[in-house]
Amino acid sequence: MIIYAAKDYQDMSRKAANIMSAQIIMKPDAVLGLATGSTPVGMYRQLVEWYNKGDLDFSRISSVNLDEYRGLSGDNEQSYRYFMNTNLFDHVNIDKSRTFVPNGLEEDSDKACADYNEIIRSMGGVDIQLLGIGGNGHIGFNEPGDVFEKETHVVDLTESTIQANSRFFESMDEVPKQAYTMGIKNIMAARKILLVATGAAKAQALYDSLYGPITPNVPASILQLHNDVTVVADEDALSLIREKGLL
Ligand code: PGA
Repeated sequence: MIIYAAKDYQDMSRKAANIMSAQIIMKPDAVLGLATGSTPVGMYRQLVEWYNKGDLDFSRISSVNLDEYRGLSGDNEQSYRYFMNTNLFDHVNIDKSRTFVPNGLEEDSDKACADYNEIIRSMGGVDIQLLGIGGNGHIGFNEPGDVFEKETHVVDLTESTIQANSRFFESMDEVPKQAYTMGIKNIMAARKILLVATGAAKAQALYDSLYGPITPNVPASILQLHNDVTVVADEDALSLIREKGLL
C-alpha cells in the first residue's frame, strides 16, 4: 500500500488525477472504475482541465461506476449517472455507450445485479477502481454489517441516508429507499485501487480501514488484502494515522 499525503483538498485532487491520468496514458483502452460523492469532484475537474489542454484522450476508455439509486433514471439530478455526466462524461471525449452504472430503472433486482456483474466481466475487469470512503468505513454502498457482500447487490438505505436525501426531492415517496452497488468481490477484483479521502470526518474510518482488524464492520478494511492500493488523503483525513506515528 502506498499512502500519498496531500496538504489540502486541491492537492489531493491533483495527486489523484495524476494517478488516473497515468492509467489513461499507459493504457488508452483502460476500464476505469469510477465513484461519486463529494470527494472525487475536484479530481474530475482536474482531469477535465488536462483533457482541455490536450493532455488526455478518453476516446478508447470504458468505465463502470460503483453504484446507483434504485428507481432513479439517469435524467434525475440525484442519480449517479447524472453526476457522472455532469462532472466528467459531458466534458471529455468518452464514448458514453461504454460508460456503465447499475441500471436504476430495472425493477427486477436479481436481473439488474446479474447484468451488472456480466458487464464488468465482459469488459475484462477493472484496471483501476476509484473509491471514496464513508465516515463509517463504507465503500460504494457496502455498509458495515456481519458479512462482506460479494457481487452486485441491492441495499436498503439507512433511515438517516433517506432523511438526508429527502431535501433533494419534492416528497418523501420520491426519495430512493434502495440502491444497487458493486460488492466487495467486484471491488477487490480490480487490478489497482485508488482510495481518496478528505477531511477530519474521515480520519477514524481511514485509520480503522488501513490499520485496524479486517472486518465487515469496517468494509474498507478488506482493502488491506489487496496488493495494489494507493491512498491519496489530505492531512485532516490522515490526522489519526499521524497521531499514532504510523506515517
Ligand atoms: P463523500 O462520500 O465523498 O461525499 O464523502 C464518500 C463515500 O461515502 O463513499
